[in-house]
Amino acid sequence: MHMTLSLPDRSRAMEEKSWWDTWNTSYRTQEDNDEISSELFARAAAIINEILQAGGGRVLEVACGAGTLSRKLKYSSYHGLDLSPAAIELARRKAGMPLVPGAVPPAYEAADFHDAPLFEEPFDVVVCIDAISSFRDQQLAMNKMTQSLRKGGHLVLTTINRFVYDRIRRTQNVRLESGPVRHWLTRGELRHLIKHAGLKIEHFSTIMPRGNLGILRVINSRRLNEALGASFAATLRCWKESAGLGQYSVVVARKTV
Ligand SMILES: C[S@@+](CC[C@H](N)C(=O)[O-])C[C@H]1O[C@@H](n2cnc3c(N)ncnc32)[C@H](O)[C@@H]1O
Repeated sequence: MHMTLSLPDRSRAMEEKSWWDTWNTSYRTQEDNDEISSELFARAAAIINEILQAGGGRVLEVACGAGTLSRKLKYSSYHGLDLSPAAIELARRKAGMPLVPGAVPPAYEAADFHDAPLFEEPFDVVVCIDAISSFRDQQLAMNKMTQSLRKGGHLVLTTINRFVYDRIRRTQNVRLESGPVRHWLTRGELRHLIKHAGLKIEHFSTIMPRGNLGILRVINSRRLNEALGASFAATLRCWKESAGLGQYSVVVARKTV
């Protein structure tokens, strides 16, 4: 174990929905809450918007939280769903005009995805950001995401890369509250889950290199990264992302049948 826990993990003692209400109203009240989530949303939005530009624009976001990502997406219609009523209330309050003229205003729904009925019309893109680890039945959730896609539609999913996450040194007053995590998927398990649901993986990488414990202390050291200038640093960053040393795994998968 590499991390130092200094403050207690409140999420361990709370009921699932209450915890996610607390989490969303603590960490998702702003558009730019912190550097890490802002970069995650920007990177995810860039991938999704590229897919939307090439195909249809109907988006379903599973576990949309306070809707932060939705406000960066160029959809024609958007439906966000989350277990936390407080998150959905925030999302509805913050909902602005869609970025694309003529697009339908976004809809946000408080529901448990496990029990939610499937939509009549399938979506072009299904998105799930940093939430698959929390679903009590991960294969069921993945199957339902697949069933919610049209043929040819895309799933875009990000999740914490445990290898890196466990190698980030926590300071005395930074809380590490992972929430009601059912199972942290390894990258192999995530691949299996997606393929088992019937999707074809088109892209699988990590983003946002981080970590300062163990081997990552050397790989991410300022001395190494800044030694040969900005262009070397950028190349090294790309290498780290493709080598699996980013804080988040990112998958783009397609429903081919
Ligand atoms: C770490 S948060 C991420 C939220 C959002 N995607 C973001 O990045 O801000 C995980 C989210 O998953 C939601 N969630 C957990 N289990 C769920 C379920 N069974 N159905 C729908 N949402 C769920 C939680 O309410 C929480 O908002």
